[in-house]
Amino acid sequence: MITKKPFGTTEKGEQVDLFTLENSKKTAVDIITYGATVNSIYVADKNGEFADILCGFDTIEGHEKYSNYQGMTVGRYANRIAEGKFELEGTVYQTVKNEKGVTGLHGGGELSHAVWKALIVDDNCLEMTYFSPDGSMGFPGNVDFTVTFTLHEDDSLEIKYNAVSDKTTVINMTNHAYFNLAGKGDILGHELKINADCFIPTDELSIPTGEIRPVEGTAFDFRQSKPIGRDIGADDIQLKQCRGYDHNFCLNEGDGPAAVARDPESGRTMEVYTDLPGVQLYCGNFLDGTRPGKKGVPLIKHCGFCLETQYYPNTPNMPEFPQCTVKAGEKFESVTVFKFFVS
Ligand code: BGC
Repeated sequence: MITKKPFGTTEKGEQVDLFTLENSKKTAVDIITYGATVNSIYVADKNGEFADILCGFDTIEGHEKYSNYQGMTVGRYANRIAEGKFELEGTVYQTVKNEKGVTGLHGGGELSHAVWKALIVDDNCLEMTYFSPDGSMGFPGNVDFTVTFTLHEDDSLEIKYNAVSDKTTVINMTNHAYFNLAGKGDILGHELKINADCFIPTDELSIPTGEIRPVEGTAFDFRQSKPIGRDIGADDIQLKQCRGYDHNFCLNEGDGPAAVARDPESGRTMEVYTDLPGVQLYCGNFLDGTRPGKKGVPLIKHCGFCLETQYYPNTPNMPEFPQCTVKAGEKFESVTVFKFFVS
């Protein structure tokens, strides 16, 4: 079942709607047209108690004023591009440098801060579309973006990304949900497993150094499930410069989940599946409690963790990484699934 209601009006006066997808088990997902944002996910714990397991905002003002991309669809290029610059088919493109005036982050926030058009496809599927004109944030090509959200009866939320450009361009889309499977407190006690033998070390600007480093023997080894907080304070320059995990993991190939997260107290468990080569683990390291979230509760450091499925950062400048170039007229397609259950 999908229902629709008004969510609010942006500062510019655009109307924002909220759609609720609910299945027969009462698992529900709220999605708003601002940023094609997954605003809330309600799932049961081991006692059948429901909680909203996403950190974020319950007003449009919250999203506009305080957002660090909570729940948003991010693009055109999720994560960072060094100096916002890259070359494609012989042309150099200078895109937005919205982070410290030096690096390009999350495509300048274009997709995440725009109002998308919504279409109810059927009783469990919602489609959102957004058109980005050629040159927007400095990126080439008129691009039609489509994101489709489907809530299945097995409590999985499937997100399909789709984009078509009329010029060769780069596309790296993700969802930036901050999960907290307890629905409160911080996530340091959550257990996390990531199916990755290697991760991408970064420099002080969070740009990949070029190394693909084995996780073996480091704080980044999540191949066996462990509490997120166990090694987050390890004496490792990679963790120190980001105040914790804010790194891309190179996913191993295979059919199993890319990641599994579990809150031991509530038993709520989430599996993540993706066809993308990487996942950025970010643990809200830069949140400091000064911004009010839902119900005015401050968004504290480590209040949520993000598993942003994506291409590795700065891909257009790193020819050795899997590439996300999309040729004119070709379709960019990708799918990520978040599956919820109790264990
Ligand atoms: C980045 C973080 C950043 C956060 C919010 C994450 O994807 O890796 O460094 O603080 O997004 O912008």
